[in-house]
Amino acid sequence: MRMILFGPPGAGKGTQAGRLLERHPELAHLSTGDMLRSAVAEGTALGRQADVFMKAGDLVPDTLVVGLVMERLEKPDCRDGFMLDGFPRTVPQAEALDRALREAGIALDHVVVIEVPDELIVERITGRRMDPETGAIYHVKFSPPPEEAAGRVVQRKDDTVEAVTARLAKYHSETTPVLPHYEAQGLVRKIDGVGPPHEVALRIERAL
Ligand code: AP5
Repeated sequence: MRMILFGPPGAGKGTQAGRLLERHPELAHLSTGDMLRSAVAEGTALGRQADVFMKAGDLVPDTLVVGLVMERLEKPDCRDGFMLDGFPRTVPQAEALDRALREAGIALDHVVVIEVPDELIVERITGRRMDPETGAIYHVKFSPPPEEAAGRVVQRKDDTVEAVTARLAKYHSETTPVLPHYEAQGLVRKIDGVGPPHEVALRIERAL
């Protein structure tokens, strides 16, 4: 299976990616947000350039992100299927992905769009906490970390009200225009992202 997880910041893409991997362990998980955060943490040239955009809630330029994803898609673990999380986020990124898949002679199966109204996003994002050791995603109210992880969870630098407001605006102006491209190919599966994560996971599984 080759799929894209699509949706606004805080829709639950990372949360649902974790659940999807439990049911479909053969899939490679390609999260551009995680890849960029690793590059920032390692202090690579790409990471130093991306950091400025990410902190401000802006999109990292296509030229940087497309190269990163194309290189990753060529790795052997993508041969049995992949789940793109947070990519493509602009029309030029979708066009670059199209070209790469066409050249490789493969096609997408699903574009899963997790829909959550804007008014729920800020609370989800500002309450998010991440476990730097396991990568687990928590929320102070909706999904509190277990006792052994509570002392080490951290907040992402771009999980401020200001940055999430900018990220949401970018989602509406730059990312939603990607959808008609996939709707025309009959690939879009719209999922209601409101409700407990296990219910959202069930809706996704039914749609696939
Ligand atoms: P990225 O890391 O992709 O962030 P995002 O798309 O903004 O999405 P998030 O990770 O914030 O949210 P999510 O949908 O994964 O939600 P989560 O499951 O964590 O990108 C970060 C930045 O990198 C971008 O701003 C940009 O600068 C750059 N970037 C990345 N890709 C790029 C690209 N392709 N092009 C250019 N730039 C790029 O859930 C959020 C919270 O809600 C958690 O606390 C969770 O516990 C809680 N939650 C989840 N589900 C539920 C539920 N059903 N009910 C209640 N709470 C829930």
